[in-house]
Amino acid sequence: MTAPAPAVTAADVATLRVTGKQRRADGVLTLDLASPTGGRLRDWTPGSHVDLLLPNGLTRQYSLCGDRWDPTTYRVGVLREPSGRGGSAFVHDELAVGDLVGVGGPRNNFPLVPSERYLFVAGGIGITPILPMVHQAELLGADWRLLYGGRRRASMAFLDELAGYGDRVLARPEDEHGLLDLAGFLGEPRTGVRVYACGPAPLLAAVERACAGWPPHALRTERFVGAELGAPTRDGAFQVELARSGTTVTVSPGTTVLDALAGAGVEVLSSCRGGVCGTCETGVLAGRPDHRDSLLDDDERAANDCMYVCVSRSRDPRLVLDL
Ligand code: FES
Repeated sequence: MTAPAPAVTAADVATLRVTGKQRRADGVLTLDLASPTGGRLRDWTPGSHVDLLLPNGLTRQYSLCGDRWDPTTYRVGVLREPSGRGGSAFVHDELAVGDLVGVGGPRNNFPLVPSERYLFVAGGIGITPILPMVHQAELLGADWRLLYGGRRRASMAFLDELAGYGDRVLARPEDEHGLLDLAGFLGEPRTGVRVYACGPAPLLAAVERACAGWPPHALRTERFVGAELGAPTRDGAFQVELARSGTTVTVSPGTTVLDALAGAGVEVLSSCRGGVCGTCETGVLAGRPDHRDSLLDDDERAANDCMYVCVSRSRDPRLVLDL
């Protein structure tokens, strides 16, 4: 993320129609979404995601995995998560072609920066943001490789699409090959190579360990689950001033900024509420946030120009937000 984006409010949500629903692997399907009037959708870039505001009241975030050059259709991949809170089960069992859903975004917390060489690592449903990245890398003539792991071949989505890339793609089901050979795939640390990884937390932790000696910013990851939150920097309450309205909201110790804003009638769209999806990104005009998200890198945190209000708090007695 290079610049703070204005927080997305409910007014930024488009209503789209489900135009396709297709099984892609065991427990994985894709949804196609289009405007009911057939109009153009907002442009997006590889690594972007959208928020689906489901008819059952849940909001869930899914990576776009379709053709970014198709201006009329978004495609998202959805894994059925038996231990989830009901969003994926609703998509799998209830949502049907023809239904309308609210769609927030697209938003990109995981942008593909220009490079001549890429190494991609995907685990399970983590393939969804990586898929448009490999298409783009191929289109741009970059030198790239993908290491793609999953429990079983039958649970790994998009293998048919990826087969066209030949030996650039290493598909490694765990029941056939064991754990991914990250060291062998990544090789020695070197400059000029960008590493992108998305998947379950243990895989990302292993990639981070394997890239420990790489140049700063060579590795970029996207998480499904936020890192463990430590104690906030400030024990007490703090004030949040909303620059556009001049309103001041008090955030008490047990309340998130997101909830305090909602209590004051200021709706900021949220999805994960765990600092991983980026939906609640909000510009900061003054004060230093206590960053507690899993999205910003050290340089972005130091800039103090945006924060994720679902988890982040304040180091100072007062923050001024671009709301
Ligand atoms: S709601 Fe996902 S980062 Fe805040």
